[in-house]
Amino acid sequence: MGAEAGAPWGWTDAHRALRVAVVGATGAVGRELLELLSAARHPRERIDCQARGRSRVALADGRAFEVRPADEAPGRCDLAFLCTPSEVSLDLAPLLVESGARVIDLSSAHRMHPGIPLVVPEINGKELDRGPRLVANPNCTTAIAALPLSVIDRAAGLEEVVVVSYQAASGAGLPGLRALEAEMREAAGVPADERESPFPAPLALNVIPAVSELDESGVSGEERKIEGELRKILGRAGLAVEATTARVPVQRCHSVAVHARLSRELAPADAASLLRAAPGIAVSEDPHGPRPRECAGTDPVHVGRIRSGARGGRSLCFFAVGDQLRKGAALNALQVAARLPARRP
Ligand SMILES: NC(=O)c1ccc[n+]([C@@H]2O[C@H](COP(=O)([O-])OP(=O)(O)OC[C@H]3O[C@@H](n4cnc5c(N)ncnc54)[C@H](OP(=O)(O)O)[C@@H]3O)[C@@H](O)[C@H]2O)c1
Repeated sequence: MGAEAGAPWGWTDAHRALRVAVVGATGAVGRELLELLSAARHPRERIDCQARGRSRVALADGRAFEVRPADEAPGRCDLAFLCTPSEVSLDLAPLLVESGARVIDLSSAHRMHPGIPLVVPEINGKELDRGPRLVANPNCTTAIAALPLSVIDRAAGLEEVVVVSYQAASGAGLPGLRALEAEMREAAGVPADERESPFPAPLALNVIPAVSELDESGVSGEERKIEGELRKILGRAGLAVEATTARVPVQRCHSVAVHARLSRELAPADAASLLRAAPGIAVSEDPHGPRPRECAGTDPVHVGRIRSGARGGRSLCFFAVGDQLRKGAALNALQVAARLPARRP
């Protein structure tokens, strides 16, 4: 999982002077963030890696970070990234804010809180202008769908959106990735160790049509997140959004098939031009793309299969793929931090 291309993502010497804490540094998102900070040339001695216990994390280039328990003496930091489960973020965020740090929470704990900005910088980065102390980073699938949808919304007004996702194993963190890898070895005839899986069924050679638990109306928690977070990020409280989320045997990159009903006509070629010009988006000309395997490790949201739907010019369909550990998590968080004032609040 090496960082590349887009570095240093607006990370300046002023940012490099900050003492940064990465809590959850041993997880899939925490490791990706360490790769990005390293590619953005943040000094290693100003990165405090924390997790549940004491350990080490090695980057793709072989260099290692020492990791200390988060419940040890806190240490002073200016900026904290919480790459932790929601319940841990809920406890830690107020303590860190109280200690004077700025906090970016990558969990779902604070996303729908009305007083806390939920930010994709290319869409609603203006919310960072007033220098909030706590910022929520969006759900991985939401961030990937929101970027192209924001462009379509500005051009032709969204009336209704249907999102169907195909989500990678690493969306369930390192345990998800390890479970898939073990199952793939087993499917290839190599005996695998007994391993815990976070999934409700075998994922190798399979599709699981619900990414998290269902509520009493049959909607999954992941689907509720996409619906609520899309409305909040796009600033469209009344927007009709329907989502179906599925887990697929892909290592990293979430894909979404999006069908949008528009207020005004928008030809697919015009939509493609607008998307091509938008920051953070790459338009794929491949008639069989974009695909997660080829998009893994890249920064943009890749958009292809752009076409009109059954309502002609007032409907637009597309397929988008984004590396959910990058734009869906660590990269977006780093871009948020790069737009915040590079000093202690
Ligand atoms: N994976 C994704 O694609 C993705 C995308 C967007 C957002 N997120 C969110 O990002 C967060 C991290 O996800 P992940 O995928 O990286 O999960 P993960 O691979 O399971 O990693 C979880 C991390 O949290 C740490 N942790 C757990 N309990 C802790 C505690 N009490 N104190 C300190 N650290 C603790 C773990 O440390 P130990 O190793 O010591 O247990 C580990 O570093 C979650 O809230 C997730 O919903 C994930």
